[in-house]
Amino acid sequence: MELPPPLRQAVDRALNGIAMTDLAVTAAGLSQRYREETRDGTLHVGNNREALAYLAVRLPATYAAVRASFDAVADARPDFAPKTALDIGAGPGTALWAAADCWPDLADALLVEASPAFRACGEALAEDANLPRVTWRTGDVAADALDGAPCDLVTAAYVLNELAPEVRPRVLARLWRATAGTLIIVEPGTPAGWQRIVDARRQLIGEGAHVIAPCPHAQDCPLVPPDWCHFVERVARSRLHKQAKGAEVPWEDEKFSYVALSRKPAAADGARVIARPRKGSGRVTLKLCRPDGSAGEQMFSRRDGDVFKRATRCDWGSVL
Ligand SMILES: C[S@@+](CC[C@H](N)C(=O)[O-])C[C@H]1O[C@@H](n2cnc3c(N)ncnc32)[C@H](O)[C@@H]1O
Repeated sequence: MELPPPLRQAVDRALNGIAMTDLAVTAAGLSQRYREETRDGTLHVGNNREALAYLAVRLPATYAAVRASFDAVADARPDFAPKTALDIGAGPGTALWAAADCWPDLADALLVEASPAFRACGEALAEDANLPRVTWRTGDVAADALDGAPCDLVTAAYVLNELAPEVRPRVLARLWRATAGTLIIVEPGTPAGWQRIVDARRQLIGEGAHVIAPCPHAQDCPLVPPDWCHFVERVARSRLHKQAKGAEVPWEDEKFSYVALSRKPAAADGARVIARPRKGSGRVTLKLCRPDGSAGEQMFSRRDGDVFKRATRCDWGSVL
């Protein structure tokens, strides 16, 4: 996946004149904090330099993961056309750009972000862009109430991992109260990220939420560690991205886990493919999460006729 051209251009403008070799050190430090899930009371992105490093090396990947999660929701709910949005831990406004790309009717968005430097960077990116009306708020979602009318779309992308475990249930309950339509939570596709999604999913089902993606059921997740549910998006690396990472390969794979929870139930219309399909001659093996709450591999061959044809067209994340 590539950034949409207006976002790509806004990022290029923000990075114009910055020596990527200098930014590489900041980017490497940032990546290490994310990998190690450092929670030391300071924000990972606290100044403009760190915000620029995020634009160069993380935004393309988080955008791809968020946009792919939105696609899954749009597929499950073709009639969902959010007009209002709330995004917490907005960073440079990643979810706003992805939502505007997915749902053109979006008119108003409130973005809450703890880091003034990140907020300023997001505001600069959005300047003159064809985006919904945006209100930015510098705030701490762990401490501040989310007042105002509930929104059609509420998002928390790559944020839960930055909150202390003990405050997450409180923040999730607030997010759900702020949701009039659908709440989408995205986390890194690591075992720890998936566990946070599992915990959030269980809590919010208990508060009346309906799961609309990726799970085709509301039962407990059938996967057992060391297995974990995650998806992958291939992300194109721009020249600046490669320079900032000191990388040669023109792409990277972003693993992510997510859950979309709605006020309205969605009809489960099939099983979700939860790993890369294995294709051989005349057969395909899919790892499926099924509407009855079970998960496992299933082999399809030509003898399965139409189902086989549909199975061969499936990709990781598709619904069969
Ligand atoms: C990894 S970034 C994700 C940014 C964006 N959502 C994305 O997907 O690209 C996490 C963001 O959450 C913000 N954040 C962390 N703790 C927060 C808090 N307690 N309240 C508000 N924002 C917070 C950070 O400052 C950072 O911008």
